[in-house]
Amino acid sequence: MILSPSLLSSDYGRLADELAALEDAGLSWVHWDVMDGMFVPNITLGAPIIKKLRKASGLFFDVHLMVQAPERYIADFADAGADMLVVHAEATNHLERTLSEIRRMGVQCGVALNPHTPLCVLEYVLDQLDMVLIMSVNPGFGGQKFIPFTMRKIEELSAMITARGLKTLIQVDGGVDPENTPELVRRGADVLVSGSAFFGHPPYRQRHDAFQAAAAR
Ligand code: DX5
Ligand code: ZN
Repeated sequence: MILSPSLLSSDYGRLADELAALEDAGLSWVHWDVMDGMFVPNITLGAPIIKKLRKASGLFFDVHLMVQAPERYIADFADAGADMLVVHAEATNHLERTLSEIRRMGVQCGVALNPHTPLCVLEYVLDQLDMVLIMSVNPGFGGQKFIPFTMRKIEELSAMITARGLKTLIQVDGGVDPENTPELVRRGADVLVSGSAFFGHPPYRQRHDAFQAAAAR
């Protein structure tokens, strides 16, 4: 299991220190939540901030674009140094074109699905994806409660990926904690995003260990 801590719950006034602390604690990924105030109610940060912090960090930058018409910003985020760009299927009219554009920039690509969005939207693009992000809360805020029906969705996606002989990663985002981690991993999750349940419980090395121990249960 890969744990990707969501910076949404970190101290935005000390992002460079937070990134260094994650690396020191042995984490390899970090999750950036980009919110535009349109696709979701909140506004967070954009490509210029990621670009500045790219220089300060060797972590894998997993960038979750909660942005309407994300195709407008793919080049900016690729240039900022994103390693993985995840766009919402609900936010772009021409999903295939948006994904091709991400890959053309040499960046790994993923599609995020809101809790109610059926897996069938992935039917024709799944084989182009490095990762699928299953939202287990409605995006826009940290600290929300995990929506139970998304467990079944993870399992069904996992079966779809296996049936096609693909290696696509399954990421789960929202309300993840060490208590639901064992079941998430059992259902097929490969990458877990955690905001409040991670940053709210320092030290980071011990908290990462707690998630990994839960995943191994
Ligand atoms: C929600 C974001 C998540 C959020 C998760 O819209 O996409 O990444 O930070 O936070 P928790 O883990 O607190 O639910
Ligand atoms: Zn996210």
